Amino acid sequence: MFITFEGIDLCGKSTQVKLLYDYLLKNKKKVVLVREPGGTLISEKIRNILLDKANSKMKYITEFLLFSASRHQLTEEIIKPLLKKKYIVICDRYYDSSTAYQGYGGKIDLKIISRINKLASGNLVPDLSFLIDINYDENIKRRKLSGKRHDRIEQKEKDYYRKVITGYRTLAKLNRKRFRVLNGKSNIELIHKNILEILKKQKVISKI
Ligand SMILES: Nc1ncnc2c1ncn2[C@@H]1O[C@H](COP(=O)(O)OP(=O)(O)OP(=O)(O)O)[C@@H](O)[C@H]1O
Ligand SMILES: [Mg+2]
Repeated sequence: MFITFEGIDLCGKSTQVKLLYDYLLKNKKKVVLVREPGGTLISEKIRNILLDKANSKMKYITEFLLFSASRHQLTEEIIKPLLKKKYIVICDRYYDSSTAYQGYGGKIDLKIISRINKLASGNLVPDLSFLIDINYDENIKRRKLSGKRHDRIEQKEKDYYRKVITGYRTLAKLNRKRFRVLNGKSNIELIHKNILEILKKQKVISKI
């Protein structure tokens, strides 16, 4: 079972991923948590390049290809072998992030993104993808609250974020079977409970 979490910066992905991971571990499930970009030695090196402020000259195609390279390494080295061993793999972002940010964000043709996504993922499609949906105002509110340092990717402005948010919603509509949209403004425990209910329906867990 391959489960991915998607949504714009600060929507609550890592919070929910951690809660779910801990819950599944406690319930004796074979589960592994990975993050994008990163998760392998090579992918973590690529992550550092992507997030390094000194790389402000990076072209958006370079950026997309680096994300894809990191993803391919993670998929082939870690995710696919674990899925073969019947692990539940939870991934904090996957290729829908490229589609939303680089595609719907307006920089690269969606058809090209889709083809590179297929290549980078070795045709691995998540079984279930959660979109944690928040609007731009909520994103700004949380940025102020957390005092989170803005890394290179997060310095892009308002219009761009709005396009990414709409893009994510479109992606969820186009892939209804795979996506579940969660209201990211609900409280943390409630979102966690919704996630467990969905996993119960899908028979990943038998009780809550
Ligand atoms: N449902 C929620 N309601 C209010 N605040 C929340 C909620 N979920 C998470 N937060 C807070 O929002 C901030 C961002 O959460 P988190 O790190 O989980 O987001 P993220 O989607 O992983 O962000 P990033 O994309 O930057 O990694 C944290 O301060 C977290 O405590
Ligand atoms: Mg996170």
